[in-house]
Amino acid sequence: MTSQASASRDDILLALLKAARVVPVITIERTEDAVPLARALVAGGVRTLEITLRTAAAVGAAEAIIAQVPEAVVGIGTVLTPLDLARAKALGARFALSPGATPELLNAAAETDLPFVPGIATASELMAALVRGFGVYKFFPAQQAGGIPALRALGGPFPQARFCPTGGVGEANAAEWLAEPNVVAVGGSWLCPAADIRAGNWDKITTLARRAMQ
Ligand code: 3PG
Repeated sequence: MTSQASASRDDILLALLKAARVVPVITIERTEDAVPLARALVAGGVRTLEITLRTAAAVGAAEAIIAQVPEAVVGIGTVLTPLDLARAKALGARFALSPGATPELLNAAAETDLPFVPGIATASELMAALVRGFGVYKFFPAQQAGGIPALRALGGPFPQARFCPTGGVGEANAAEWLAEPNVVAVGGSWLCPAADIRAGNWDKITTLARRAMQ
């Protein structure tokens, strides 16, 4: 992929994440929960969703949301291998995210036009992604890897880098992260508690989403 192509891939990501501001990290155990969950989030104003490849139901869940909830902007998360990335593209996901940045995954992602957010927690990981043309990163696990002071420190040598911090971000600290100039969006699982998905508490999830968007 040319550097022009990687720049436009990042432009797409930046537009998408800046519009989103909050990206729920979603783990779906039962395929039938996918559509009502996505509708509940969309009803609360949260349209950009990360469906993680952590369960057997994940692929079917993402397919169902893409087919039945056109307002949702679906990204595939927990992309660990080139095969996961190919699966995300085949599903019709709009973007993909990883908790990490292995050379194999970065090389595969550099060859596709699917906007990709590698996960980084250190300068070396960021540099491995940067040399392959990636400029938007998931800072993971954000809180545990040093929180806002660590992100500010990374902003020194990498002033152009833009981040979506995830891991330990929640209602109590999302606004603080979003106030950082190099943060374009935050991610987290707090909008979709497993117990509420299991119980079908869709109104509560809409309320959580609405609160997050405020
Ligand atoms: C992720 O994969 O991004 C994290 O599991 C989300 O972290 P959280 O559960 O602390 O929000």
